[in-house]
Amino acid sequence: MSKKAIGIDIGGTGIKGAVVNLKSGSLIGERVRHETPAGGKPGDIAKVVAKLIAQLPDAKPGMLVGICFPAIVRNGITMSAANVAKEWIGLDADALFTKELGRPVHVINDADAAGVAEIKFGAGQDVDGLVIMTTLGTGIGTALFMNGKLVPNAELGHLEIEGVDYESKASFAAKEREDLSWADWAKRLQVYYSTLERLFTPDLMIVGGGVSKQHEEFLPKLKLNSPIVPAIKRNNAGILGAAALAKKAAK
Ligand code: BGC
Repeated sequence: MSKKAIGIDIGGTGIKGAVVNLKSGSLIGERVRHETPAGGKPGDIAKVVAKLIAQLPDAKPGMLVGICFPAIVRNGITMSAANVAKEWIGLDADALFTKELGRPVHVINDADAAGVAEIKFGAGQDVDGLVIMTTLGTGIGTALFMNGKLVPNAELGHLEIEGVDYESKASFAAKEREDLSWADWAKRLQVYYSTLERLFTPDLMIVGGGVSKQHEEFLPKLKLNSPIVPAIKRNNAGILGAAALAKKAAK
């Protein structure tokens, strides 16, 4: 079995990909990024992914491909579409990408992929009990791990708090949209993470997404009983986790 695979992370705003060293959990060579095509339609996204893979200098024809996507994904079928086109709902995404790329592809939820990367290579290594991975980006992604094992498709970013789908208030996109200061955003994160804590009593919460590189601006402001730490693989976690699960799916 090859020790390399291609990981692709599809987001509401950008599509990123790289060749991954599955042993060390690091990227090989350059990471390529494209804007997510306007409207986020399946055919358009699949074409961008094919173009991106063709641009990866270290990608080889036989390499496995793992893709992560911002939706519930069950057996390769996308079941929701919070920040992408509604055409994804009920679509066989494994089949779409396998056809477009001409090789077997496995699609999983983006937060699940990021969580797998943190559990295997990052902040969640060797942590027993319940670990909740969260990603703060266009939406809020979440992934649950019990003793290192993924319980897929937790959609806790959509917890209804104070009468609203709370991703609309506490995601990084909400901070940007409303031009919130770090302190004001942290107040919303406090509400969100306290709710997670009250409902699940996690042993560890991990905070990922691009903004986690500025964790010093907001994590120290949170008062929680469970430990909460920044992701180590940050914005590459989706790519790493998708590639790691591509390998697994093909075994
Ligand atoms: C989606 C999740 C996704 C998260 C992060 C949410 O809006 O429902 O499936 O993991 O955004 O992209």
